[in-house]
Amino acid sequence: MSCNCNTREVASPLLPYIATVNKIIEETPTIKTFQVTFDEPGILENFGNKPGQCAMLSILGVGEGMISITSSPTRKGMLEFTIAKVGRLTSVIHELEVGDKMAIRGPYGNHFPFEEMKGKNCLFVAGGVGLAPLRSLIDYVLDNRDDYGRVDIVYGARCYDMLCFKYDLFDRWPKIKDTHVHVTLDREDPKWDGRVGFITLDWLQEICPSVENTVPVTCGPPIMIKLQLENFKKMGFKPEEIITTLEMNMRCGVGKCGRCNIGEKYICVDGPVFNAAQIQKLPPEY
Ligand SMILES: Cc1cc2nc3c(=O)[nH]c(=O)nc-3n(C[C@H](O)[C@H](O)[C@H](O)COP(=O)(O)OP(=O)(O)OC[C@H]3O[C@@H](n4cnc5c(N)ncnc54)[C@H](O)[C@@H]3O)c2cc1C
Ligand code: FES
Repeated sequence: MSCNCNTREVASPLLPYIATVNKIIEETPTIKTFQVTFDEPGILENFGNKPGQCAMLSILGVGEGMISITSSPTRKGMLEFTIAKVGRLTSVIHELEVGDKMAIRGPYGNHFPFEEMKGKNCLFVAGGVGLAPLRSLIDYVLDNRDDYGRVDIVYGARCYDMLCFKYDLFDRWPKIKDTHVHVTLDREDPKWDGRVGFITLDWLQEICPSVENTVPVTCGPPIMIKLQLENFKKMGFKPEEIITTLEMNMRCGVGKCGRCNIGEKYICVDGPVFNAAQIQKLPPEY
């Protein structure tokens, strides 16, 4: 999974560019998706982001934070970021309106192994806002549909109002050839008559009875990632076949400040995408 796509051929990988918010989607009461374009011509075309990469978003006088690029590079003319309101920066971003500006630098980090996944079935398992980084890969796969096998998207959220990307889950993705969406809520909900309960090993085995020629990819809160990595191993996947993304607090995004390391690995340049064999070698700090 080593590559040099976290460096780009511009003056400096730390240079922020001004972008304008074009569209805002209220996903949940605390999560919004922001669609943006760069003001300067040519920046977007040369941004070169790959599924699973991130960018540093900043608001002048407030601060900056690393956010996954949730749109696939196959979706031209814009970038999308899905942002949970958790603190100072993200609260200010949540106040932005269409036409407002932010600054963006990146893209950073490695990416999902979308080339190596060609010809294989894809088992995507996500929880909560963890669907955001996975969505860039899901849309990449679905926009190159004939290059990949069966696609299963398994998604869990706490309650109906906390489901992100309802328009993808219930409208867009199920209409695509050999694409199967499975949604569950942690608890009963008056707005929901679908499955209730966590994403369990039994349910995953029902959805994906054979692990042959299948790549499992998971993203979500740390506790969910740990559980799903164990589930995948019990299903018979080898650790090196199991893909996930990790999050650590970041500052520079380019391997200079030492803020994001786990053991010897810097999540900003060696990650955020890792396989389970690599994770097994890390100290349990994530
Ligand atoms: C590789 C990567 C990808 C990310 N992708 C997304 C994304 O797609 N969408 C999204 O909403 N967020 C994402 N994050 C998390 C995001 O960077 C933070 O939530 C954000 O920077 C918090 O800024 P703040 O000023 O609003 O919060 P602060 O006021 O700094 O903190 C508020 C709370 O959030 C916690 N927090 C801050 N940063 C992080 C972090 N990196 N991880 C976990 N908890 C944190 C703090 O400990 C504190 O409890 C990502 C982080 C990384 C490292
Ligand atoms: S964020 Fe600075 S080294 Fe990773």
